[in-house]
Amino acid sequence: ASEPVKSVCVVGAGYVGGPTAAVLALYHPSITVEVLDRDPRRIQQWQSPHLPVHESGLETVVRTVRDGADMAGDEGLTDPLSVQKRGRNLFFTCDTATIARADIVFMAVNTPTKTFGVGAGCATNMTAFDSAMREVAAHAKPGAIIVEKSTVPGGTAERVRKMLSTYRPGVPFEVLSNPEFLAEGCAIDNLTAPDRVLIGSAGTPSGRRAARTLANLYEAWVPSSKILQTNSWSSELAKLVANAMLAQRISSINSISAICEKTGAEVDQVAHAIGLDARIGPQFLKAGLGFGGSCFRKDIASLAYLAESLGLDDVAHYWRQVNVMNERQRDRFSRKVIDCFERNLVGRKLAILGFAFKKNTGDTRESLAVDVIRQLLEERPAEIAIFDPYCRPEDILREIMSVAPEAVHNEVVKISSDPYLACSQAHAVLVVTDCDQFRNTRPKKKRATTQSVLFPQKSPAWAPAHDLLCHETTLERETWTHDGVSYQLNAQDACSPNCSDCRTTCDRPSVTEQVEWTRIAYNMLEPRWVFDGRGQLDAAELEKLGVRVDTVGRRT
Ligand code: UGA
Repeated sequence: ASEPVKSVCVVGAGYVGGPTAAVLALYHPSITVEVLDRDPRRIQQWQSPHLPVHESGLETVVRTVRDGADMAGDEGLTDPLSVQKRGRNLFFTCDTATIARADIVFMAVNTPTKTFGVGAGCATNMTAFDSAMREVAAHAKPGAIIVEKSTVPGGTAERVRKMLSTYRPGVPFEVLSNPEFLAEGCAIDNLTAPDRVLIGSAGTPSGRRAARTLANLYEAWVPSSKILQTNSWSSELAKLVANAMLAQRISSINSISAICEKTGAEVDQVAHAIGLDARIGPQFLKAGLGFGGSCFRKDIASLAYLAESLGLDDVAHYWRQVNVMNERQRDRFSRKVIDCFERNLVGRKLAILGFAFKKNTGDTRESLAVDVIRQLLEERPAEIAIFDPYCRPEDILREIMSVAPEAVHNEVVKISSDPYLACSQAHAVLVVTDCDQFRNTRPKKKRATTQSVLFPQKSPAWAPAHDLLCHETTLERETWTHDGVSYQLNAQDACSPNCSDCRTTCDRPSVTEQVEWTRIAYNMLEPRWVFDGRGQLDAAELEKLGVRVDTVGRRT
């Protein structure tokens, strides 16, 4: 039998902690979910209409559980798009006293790579985790279940158990590993309809009971067949391995893209042909500038470090090569740009479209563009202009400051809020991320699917409104049917680009129109080059406009 849960505390209000807490609160209206973070600014942001994490559907969920969804007075959300009242059960706080109330404490603090001392560049920096754990050890109530949600090195559960018995000798606690597999940009979909939920326990009767309690929480919306129970080590390692295998596929296809660029083969054709093999599958085979983001590089480094510390140097070398191949991909791309200008970029203007580490996010951590820009700046171009629909200028500048502060001070690097201004009078345009907006063919019109999985049982029918309107690339008249009711919305209901106060108070450029390549080509200077870093442009179309196109994984 499992214990009844009344109160949950999530430590760390970041990309994982915030959305996880919100979804948990959504499916458990009777449980109080409190999110604890030591950064008061971050807590304030979570309490405000402008959430610090942008995810499709997240605002809707947070407003439901944080504000009690009492949106009756909210203009825009008129019947039948109004909501039923429900209580508030999601709270954000800096007060560590919340830990003492919790039956379950989720640890969702950041675990970056260590940059100093033993294991610098590979091992995990456990500073934030350990200091949060000390607070938890000091305040947690006897019998509480401590759950590792952040990605941690293998053996951390064991370490946490020892820590708890040192700080609170004789007090019973259970430690579980429950890694998060959500990807940025589709966090709510991943959380509401996960491929699997993994729970690792100590395997003792009380450990298994704790795992059952956690499994029960998930079973409110996840089929029990998708909930896996293992030992803690397997669970911790599985998280690292999942990311390593995904990253490995990207490096593998990118290594093939290098071969394609020197032969007549086209990497997309190769990827398609091999992906049809059911044993290989089509996902994560898109060649490009490599993988960015805060997870893949770090988790591979951590896996390699683990192998090395176990004396398995060949294994460590094998996995490190995935990161090496990833870096080479940007080197080759930058080198091609430089070569196309006869190794002389002096006096040239280059435009960069896309700065976030992937589409549909403003996250600039491990941005691929930074590596490319750093290498191009060594050739002293006159200007590098950057446009990204989701990134905040201060985040872009901070990243560039860390590799080339002079270029920021001398204003060689400029950030533009307008793609046409960024590309105007440029000699070359580099498409760095896979944003649909940068394509020159219209992307297939996608229907947001969030709402159908989001509120399967207790869905009030308003959920789709925000996501359909605000985060779709097309804003034509929309109609859809939900629970037998037809809805129709039109573009006037949506936010305008850069709106600060649309009907859902969303603070980012939310209507991302496709760029018109004719306009860009018309305003470019000779020689006119487009370097397609994600293989998503129709090169033949652009060539008709007098632009030469160089595509990753294709011979030019
Ligand atoms: C990744 C994993 O996909 C999640 O399952 C995991 O939970 C998460 O890390 C984590 O550990 O927190 P994320 O980093 O958000 O999620 O992004 P992905 O969608 O996996 O993309 C990573 C990078 O690979 C991006 O730069 C993307 O553009 C690139 N990519 C992806 C490719 O270059 N080619 C592909 O075919 C797919």
